[in-house]
Amino acid sequence: MSGFYKIVLDCRSMKKVLFVCLGNICRSPMAEAILKNKIEKLGLSSALECDSCGTANYHIGDEPDYRTMKILENNGIKFKHLGRQFSKTDFETFDFIFAMDKENLRNVQKLAPNETLKQKAMLFREYDPVDGGREVPDPYYGTIKNFEEVYQMLDRTCDCFIKKHFSE
Ligand code: 4NP
Repeated sequence: MSGFYKIVLDCRSMKKVLFVCLGNICRSPMAEAILKNKIEKLGLSSALECDSCGTANYHIGDEPDYRTMKILENNGIKFKHLGRQFSKTDFETFDFIFAMDKENLRNVQKLAPNETLKQKAMLFREYDPVDGGREVPDPYYGTIKNFEEVYQMLDRTCDCFIKKHFSE
């Protein structure tokens, strides 16, 4: 574990992160894979876990898009996931609910059981040190280059999220 990531594990309970996009085959599974890889490398498995899902039901039970898998493979990340749809019970289970874009954020927020739980949902790129607060663009109808760009923004945003909440 690097000195930079001197992790505070004591007196902290396990935190759960849920990434949400539309189909749960491109952006949110990529974010899940990247964060899981960092959790493993940093020895954070007892402090942080994550999952992903989509607001739509188009890809329930599907594997991630082959371009997401290609980019992960190019970056040395092994990953398995089957698509699932967001459920309002996720508001109880997860501590952080990170939407990839504003439309998905709105659709998640509409399902919040109350105002307190609704606060758990936000745009993931609020943590992005570059152009913070923007959306993660949907690469589904794009090229492999668009998937690579999504990877870069998710990677640096995961670093900032970890740095803010799990390092000292
Ligand atoms: P994602 O991308 O929300 O990042 O998983 C999409 C995947 C599938 C579709 C749209 C976006 N679709 O229309 O099937």
